[in-house]
Amino acid sequence: MLKLKKNIVLIGHMGSGKTSLGRNISKLLKKKFIDTDEEIEKKIGISINKIFSEYGEKKFRELEEKIILKILQGHIGSIISLGGGSLESVEIRNLVFKKHISVWLKCDLSILAKRLKNAKKRPLLINKDTTKELSKLDAKRVRNYEKSIIHCDVSKKQKKIITEEIIKDIIRINEN
Ligand code: S3P
Repeated sequence: MLKLKKNIVLIGHMGSGKTSLGRNISKLLKKKFIDTDEEIEKKIGISINKIFSEYGEKKFRELEEKIILKILQGHIGSIISLGGGSLESVEIRNLVFKKHISVWLKCDLSILAKRLKNAKKRPLLINKDTTKELSKLDAKRVRNYEKSIIHCDVSKKQKKIITEEIIKDIIRINEN
């Protein structure tokens, strides 16, 4: 079994496939998979939607930062998928880019917009023009996503191929 020296952290916009690709990678590498949004929901006991509607985005970001930092520091060799906005925290960013293997799932915004058109579980997109919101988020976030060690364009490839490509890159970087 591959011995990973660091966590593998999947980043990118909502809808880029962090959770499903993360699960595939973790199964193939036989590593633990952690989805940080799920961990936030478990810890707080309500859905992400409800956290946003009851307490607001600012409170969500505080909870998100605290929970993600704890997860990143408490594991080694796990596959971890982060919420699309979490890298706006300087502390998360510093930790992810200095200590872990980061994988950016890069995806055309038009494809994301189609996938997320009727998304009910993404509070930032509910009752909004999806294309417009995504490009606003992209303008703020792409500069952070770009700092990842591994870039994988997931726009047009099959999940199986993407998974294989990412695993190849992980093995190469883990050896160095
Ligand atoms: C968010 C992305 C979501 C979730 C929350 C906010 C964002 O996670 O954390 O709705 O700011 O982009 P996914 O990227 O897993 O959808």
